[in-house]
Amino acid sequence: MKNSQRVALVTGGTGGIGTAICRDLADNGYQVIAGYYSGGNHEKANAWQIQQAKDGYDIAIAYGNITDFECSKTCIEGIQKEFGAIDILVNNAGITRDTTFKRMDPSQWFEVINTNLNSMFNVTRLVINKMLEQEFGRVINISSINAEKGQFGQTNYSAAKAGIHGFTKALAQEVASKGITINTVSPGYIATSMIMDVPEPVRDKICAGIPVGRFGEPKEIARIVSFLADAQSGFITGSNISANGGQHMH
Ligand code: CAA
Ligand code: NAP
Repeated sequence: MKNSQRVALVTGGTGGIGTAICRDLADNGYQVIAGYYSGGNHEKANAWQIQQAKDGYDIAIAYGNITDFECSKTCIEGIQKEFGAIDILVNNAGITRDTTFKRMDPSQWFEVINTNLNSMFNVTRLVINKMLEQEFGRVINISSINAEKGQFGQTNYSAAKAGIHGFTKALAQEVASKGITINTVSPGYIATSMIMDVPEPVRDKICAGIPVGRFGEPKEIARIVSFLADAQSGFITGSNISANGGQHMH
């Protein structure tokens, strides 16, 4: 099957890393759908889509709140109706609510766990059966360096992102015999608005600790996703690919 006949959904597709993933997958010939939420700000997503079109990218958009199973269901069913089964799922959407644990309130804990971990169930559960039926699928979960090493101020985020590793490895075993691979990508600090929320002096200190001497670029993550999405990457499953400029080696 040609890439052009394959359908790829990227959650958080209009965000910093998500945009790069959508464009890289589109460059590789897939029919790409960018999931967005933005609290229902459809104008923002429409403007994003128009900008992509101006840049030569024909990317569809689909509204859905990944913390909500029913809302995700409506979103996925809409995509399946319009484009057919989803062949490639990139679980990329995520948030931070950084604070030290002693100050963390329940909303900061649960928002991060719901968005970054429970969404893995909400979205993947809704696409996996069609992948099993068609005996092909690629699920690529975006975790983080801070799942691997922990991070001061991110007990919620590190816990959720570390949970993704267990999810990836368990599901990979369940679906391996049906042509479906499940993998994790763990980016280090990438230049998007997410790291701009970190106070500047703290951010500068983090950057100084990255051996390559800079933050990563979204497209450096996107190319790993496209590699894993490829039909020829079928022997890679339950794996984690770290891309962090040498900040954490293991
Ligand atoms: N290790 C040890 N101590 C640390 C520390 C660290 N990494 N960071 C801060 N501290 C200490 C400070 O030295 C300070 O000590 P004193 O009280 O003795 O002076 C104390 O902790 C409080 O530090 P702050 O003044 O920074 O406290 P704050 O309450 O204003 O902020 C914080 C705390 C929110 C955790 C802030 O330090 C912060 O934002 N840190 C960065 C967190 C981070 O890296 N987030 C990543 C976001 S991007 C992302 O998540 C994407 C990804 O996957 C990589
Ligand atoms: P970003 O620009 O803030 O993108 C995050 C995306 O998540 C947004 O597009 C957002 O969509 C979406 N999202 C948030 N809550 C959602 C919800 N409830 N339902 C649906 N979508 C939701 O951040 P980014 O840097 O590109 O991050 C992308 C992923 O990479 C995240 O999982 C992040 O944890 C991970 N990561 C980032 C870094 C980094 O340094 N930047 C490093 C490691 C891992 P809307 O705006 O439409 O709501």
